[in-house]
Amino acid sequence: MTRDEAKQRIQALQDELHQYNYEYHVLDNPTVSDDYYDKTFRELINLEDEYPEFQTADSPTQRVGAEPLDQFVKVDHNVPMLSLGNAFNAQELRDFDRRVKERVGDQVRYVCELKIDGLAVSLLYENGQFVRGATRGDGKTGEDITQNLKTVKSIPLKIREEETIEVRGEVFMPKRSFLALNEARESNSEEPFANPRNAAAGSLRQLDPKIAARRNLDIFLYSVGEWEAATTASHSERLKYMKELGFKTNPETETFESIEDVIQFTEDWTVKRHELDYEIDGIVIKVDSIDLQERLGFTAKSPRWAIAYKFPAEEAVTTLHDIELSVGRTGAVTPTAILEPVQVAGTTVQRASLHNEDLIIEKDIRLHDTVIIKKAGDIIPEVVRVVTDERTGNEQVFRMPENCPECGEPLEQPGGEVAWRCVNPNCPAQLKEGLIHFVSRNAMNIDGLGEKVIEQLFDHELIQTIADLYKLTPDDLLPLERMGQKSVDNLLKAIETSKDNSLERLLFGLGIRFVGSKAADTLAAQFGTMDALMEADKDDFEAVPDIGDKMAASIATYFEQDQVKQLIDELKSLGLNMTYLGEIVEASEDSPFYDKTVVITGKFTDMNRQDIKAQIEALGGQVTGSVSKKTDILIAGDDAGSKYDKAVDLNVSIWDEAQLLETLEA
Ligand code: IVH
Repeated sequence: MTRDEAKQRIQALQDELHQYNYEYHVLDNPTVSDDYYDKTFRELINLEDEYPEFQTADSPTQRVGAEPLDQFVKVDHNVPMLSLGNAFNAQELRDFDRRVKERVGDQVRYVCELKIDGLAVSLLYENGQFVRGATRGDGKTGEDITQNLKTVKSIPLKIREEETIEVRGEVFMPKRSFLALNEARESNSEEPFANPRNAAAGSLRQLDPKIAARRNLDIFLYSVGEWEAATTASHSERLKYMKELGFKTNPETETFESIEDVIQFTEDWTVKRHELDYEIDGIVIKVDSIDLQERLGFTAKSPRWAIAYKFPAEEAVTTLHDIELSVGRTGAVTPTAILEPVQVAGTTVQRASLHNEDLIIEKDIRLHDTVIIKKAGDIIPEVVRVVTDERTGNEQVFRMPENCPECGEPLEQPGGEVAWRCVNPNCPAQLKEGLIHFVSRNAMNIDGLGEKVIEQLFDHELIQTIADLYKLTPDDLLPLERMGQKSVDNLLKAIETSKDNSLERLLFGLGIRFVGSKAADTLAAQFGTMDALMEADKDDFEAVPDIGDKMAASIATYFEQDQVKQLIDELKSLGLNMTYLGEIVEASEDSPFYDKTVVITGKFTDMNRQDIKAQIEALGGQVTGSVSKKTDILIAGDDAGSKYDKAVDLNVSIWDEAQLLETLEA
């Protein structure tokens, strides 16, 4: 391929991928398969690698990959990002309508939009290119979060006209993504987010864009900020134009001539809102005509031409009958309130997590109390507070037991955590939860082995450890309830098939604290085999991108345990695959690192370790943690220690930073 051909091909691939991206993330209507998309994307990555001079900032490959920032830079909003006045009932909407008409006469049309419960952001496009994204901040000054916003796939990196325009909208996390994220966080013993809004905010506040990239954020654009070449006469036309430019606008927007129709719209959505896959907290009503908007102007805080109708908070009163304790996979004991069933935000609620003892004490929640319930972020039931006026004197103060409710061993509060934990590694509740985790979808994904079956097998003492699963026989299973010959055959087949799973599934399934499925993926791809993982030390784990010191320490401690070593040996002899079967990045055979095993040690001036590692891997090398006979090259920065000595001993080729840079730049 000539340079010219490469340039054209890169351009064509970028255009093609922009279109697929738009169809998938903005229109929700993909026209090509994921495989085809991935293939096209890889072709572009490879070509841009080869011809970096043709890689543009708006290339679809440039969504992630920026380096973590030290801090966010401030951004001034030339057109302030205002907030809105609120209306809480129909009468307040009629008052708003009257105030508008007193100033501009009776001919007023209103646009009604869903009020998305997320974070307001500003997106700046110059000559059609996305150049800067910022938070609202205090309305006058926000923070530059371009790197994070670039990872939001429904934000176009390039729009359909070479327009210079600032648009505004709300970044949010879909409910489904929020639930999945919290589930993953809880299984990694991380604090769950209280609601989708906090999850979205937490993601945009990260200095490392890789975190936002994993969070599945989305956006609806709902207004124009600075726009010198403004051509449209109404807000609804602006929305239409934004859509034409390739922005994602909300499809539920409607225009009405009378305030009574507006009120009907707010009433309809008060009920329908729970059906949406994102949270809304009200309806925004805007005067459509830009001319009238300008005539109406602003009060000190907000525009006179718009108002936010806020849905009433959905709370319910009920009785707390009991507090149930459950012991999780990591031994944490979680209290749950058992409630008299009550309707809240579209569903019946009969349980609410109380999280930990501190929360019960803080809210002074007692057995048989009358409590107010709401759904945090419209989804997760929680106890807001106790109605103390309703107390009769029969309520009982709740005390955390001193012993594990499942195994009777004493509970501990290790390292000042709020959670009480059962630290008995043989606690049946923990073993059972551990097995449920092991067979779950993101782990070994064993079909037919749901929670119920695991419980059955466990209670019949057929399984206690993971290894026991692989020793089950038809004779064990046939006598069980609801187990016919066919389901037994299928189950044993599914267990057998799971032996061939790639390493990351097994690694995640082991349930090492803080190791989620993403981290397991990274570790498996990095180390390749279980043996390599078991030989590695804390520093080796820490050298892996995205693996922090807390996780590194937890993995190292985990593999040090004799019990774990025995388990792995047993799984090996039962025939479980212990290698990573995922895709290894293809690299050209003439690359200096092709098929080479490389170790990196010491401190570097011009590059950081993660970069060095990523570049070597992209060039076909494998980066490992410790120097051995298999090591081909040691990249040694300043202050290289024992790895350097060992490389000298083993006659491994040693490169300094200058030699590395020269090779990478060649
Ligand atoms: S219009 C002056 N439209 O609600 C115009 N805001 O209190 C101000 N919001 O800060 C914004 N959905 O974060 C507008 N369709 C929508 C909205 C919306 C959510 C948020 C936004 C704003 C706050 C207004």
